Amino acid sequence: MLPPKLHAPFCLCTCLTLVHSFYWQDLNPVAYIESSAWVKKLQALMAAARFGQSKIPGGNGSYSVGCTDLMFDYTNKGTFLRLYYPSQDHDHCDTLWIPNKEYFFGLSKFLGTHWLMGKILSLFFGSMTTPAAWNSPLRTGEKYPLIIFSHGLGAFRTIYSAIGIDLASHGFIVAAIEHRDGSASATYYFKDQSAAEIGNQTWLYLRTLKQGEEEFPLRNEQVLQRAKECSQALDLILDIDRGRPEKNVLDLEFDVEQLKDSIDKDKIAVIGHSFGGATVIQSLSEDQRFRCGIALDAWMFPLGDEVYSRIPQPLFFINSERFQYPSNIIKMKKCYLPDRERKMITIRGSVHQNFVDFTFATGKIIGYIFTLKGEIDSNVAMGLSNKASLAFLQKHLGLQKDFDQWDSLIEGEDDNLIPGTNIDTTNHHATLQNSTGIEKPNSD
Ligand SMILES: *[C@@H]1O[C@H](CO)[C@@H](O)[C@H](O)[C@H]1NC(C)=O
Ligand SMILES: *[C@@H]1O[C@H](CO)[C@@H](O)[C@H](O)[C@H]1NC(C)=O
Ligand SMILES: *[C@@H]1O[C@H](CO)[C@@H](O)[C@H](O)[C@H]1NC(C)=O
Repeated sequence: MLPPKLHAPFCLCTCLTLVHSFYWQDLNPVAYIESSAWVKKLQALMAAARFGQSKIPGGNGSYSVGCTDLMFDYTNKGTFLRLYYPSQDHDHCDTLWIPNKEYFFGLSKFLGTHWLMGKILSLFFGSMTTPAAWNSPLRTGEKYPLIIFSHGLGAFRTIYSAIGIDLASHGFIVAAIEHRDGSASATYYFKDQSAAEIGNQTWLYLRTLKQGEEEFPLRNEQVLQRAKECSQALDLILDIDRGRPEKNVLDLEFDVEQLKDSIDKDKIAVIGHSFGGATVIQSLSEDQRFRCGIALDAWMFPLGDEVYSRIPQPLFFINSERFQYPSNIIKMKKCYLPDRERKMITIRGSVHQNFVDFTFATGKIIGYIFTLKGEIDSNVAMGLSNKASLAFLQKHLGLQKDFDQWDSLIEGEDDNLIPGTNIDTTNHHATLQNSTGIEKPNSD
């Protein structure tokens, strides 16, 4: 049996289940949703639940961090991304974390709950911010290395801000894409120019598997589209860097012309989580402009068998202890070929959600019970992942920084790290040698 988590690599059920079981069943939501007493009660609950450790951490690097959204062009074939960058000052407001109610509806669809659950989630999280200065001017006078970031299944561009902000605080420009392959909980575009002008959004929700539909063909098609979207986002940013700013479809205060000559063009990497980890590998195999890649708790299932031998660039697997399983690790190991730089570490006591902002959005106990958090402190886990990433990026992008102070983390040298993996694959060699890469769910 395949672990159930494979079907929902990005799983928020957790928090919803909680709300559901404690507050949902015994109340009539329609009657109560507008009731301010009820809302206050929920908010009080949430405040209590979030007490202690409720904030998305700011970056540890020396740069202030700004954030904006870019959409070029308005169609669903265009590029949509959230940009984190070193900013000039911090006198702008913090960034709204999940900026549209539709994302909450999308999450509730992803979790298979009633859409009203989206309303509840939006009450809890709708006004939460993340510590990046919204539309703050870019800090000029330096060229920055660039990271393209790819999200997981059921996620979207805004919920990896802890990673984006920390990297930007260390002097990177980070472009967190929103994929339009049907793997995001929700995303939007505009039907035509006039819809774009008046902001009449068309929403695209998660594409679920149809009854009896085989999973691999869908996931493989999606990972191919995702890799194209990563390359297209890179094209766009390099165009802007060359001073060809088209107009941002989202009419925001941030002037994209500031990004002219801001990118250190041969220092470009790709990072992603879960489905985004598979996207990293697909992207590396297709686009040599990505000089190296980091796959955070990658879900390898979507990849075709042909890609494993087509990745000349350095590749770093950072895994959680609890998500991984033999068939997935075996596929990672297929990337290990002579003369290829490969690294793998596992963060002790961590769970799949330790890489997603939700790990910071609930309190300790609730987060632990519902696996948004592992046994390891979420800040410590994020710190290890980010520092190891920075050290790896310095090495393979040739940066002149001090991130080499964390070189030992790349080798897994820390009490909270396991070098390589915690998963024993010795009984799975047959699978390794005979694997087709086309693995059906439940065939594990
Ligand atoms: C927004 O777009 C939808 C679908 O394209 C259309 O039915 C609706 O009338 C539009 N709303 C406005 C205010 O133009
Ligand atoms: C930031 O620094 C704090 C304190 O040293 C540490 O606990 C945390 O893990 C660091 N976070 C990141 C993302 O590096
Ligand atoms: C792989 O499959 C072939 C044919 O099915 C079989 O003969 C061979 O023993 C298998 N190899 C391993 C290592 O299991």
